[in-house]
Amino acid sequence: MSVTIKTPTEQDQMRLAGQAASEVLDMITDHVVPGISTGELNRLCHEYIVDRQQAIPAPLNYRGYPKSICTSVNHVVCHGIPGGKKLKNGDIINIDVTVIKDGFHGDTSRMFMVGKPSVMGQRVSQVAHDAMYLGIELVCPGVRLGDIGQVIQQHVEGQGCSVVREYCGHGIGREFHEDPQVLHYGKSGTGLELCAGMTITIEPMVNAGRRHVRLLPDGWTVVTKDHSLSAQWEHTVLVTDNGYEIMTRDHSGG
Ligand code: MF3
Ligand code: CO
Ligand code: CO
Repeated sequence: MSVTIKTPTEQDQMRLAGQAASEVLDMITDHVVPGISTGELNRLCHEYIVDRQQAIPAPLNYRGYPKSICTSVNHVVCHGIPGGKKLKNGDIINIDVTVIKDGFHGDTSRMFMVGKPSVMGQRVSQVAHDAMYLGIELVCPGVRLGDIGQVIQQHVEGQGCSVVREYCGHGIGREFHEDPQVLHYGKSGTGLELCAGMTITIEPMVNAGRRHVRLLPDGWTVVTKDHSLSAQWEHTVLVTDNGYEIMTRDHSGG
């Protein structure tokens, strides 16, 4: 598949989808407390998306994925499947929400601290957050994907953490995962040049320890090989004529 350029009308639709995805995370924020299970978080998000937003949770049945959101706790890097596991004080969790609204996808994730934050949990989350924004702030026509990858990698490794290589950001639109692949590591001056009207995600996965990951036998859950903590933040971003617009901006003040 090739890279799609969104027309102004399609950009409006992406804005609405992105807004909806962000509002799911706003809704779930106060529910992320010790004792709640990831399955309950999934149910709350599913019902909100379907009943309140008249939207579709994109992960559900996507390539056989069984739930409506991803919940990745502590050493889980991404694609954690919600279930009976209850959150406990000091856990860190990434909640990744993708909705389809009127045919367009909005994809965003945030980190949450459960109860009293741990120093290491907060640190790895902050490094991933700052890395994502350093990447986003570069977005404009003419910038190359390698420029974005390099700035993210440099920041993360400079903080003594590591960037996961096996999973990446992506183009997004009518399809969940479109071209191009947006790597969170690389060399500036290489890779595709961005053009106005492209929509991509930037979603670095940052490990507190080494970068290597392992896929669990469920076929989805990705964990750090060394069991170190992992964090991720994600936004869907439009390339504008003179920079960028975050389609999944957080309006909650959080
Ligand atoms: N939301 C993830 C992403 O950022 C993809 C999840 S795929 C699923 O690309 F099937 F696990 F939901
Ligand atoms: Co994504
Ligand atoms: Co996502």
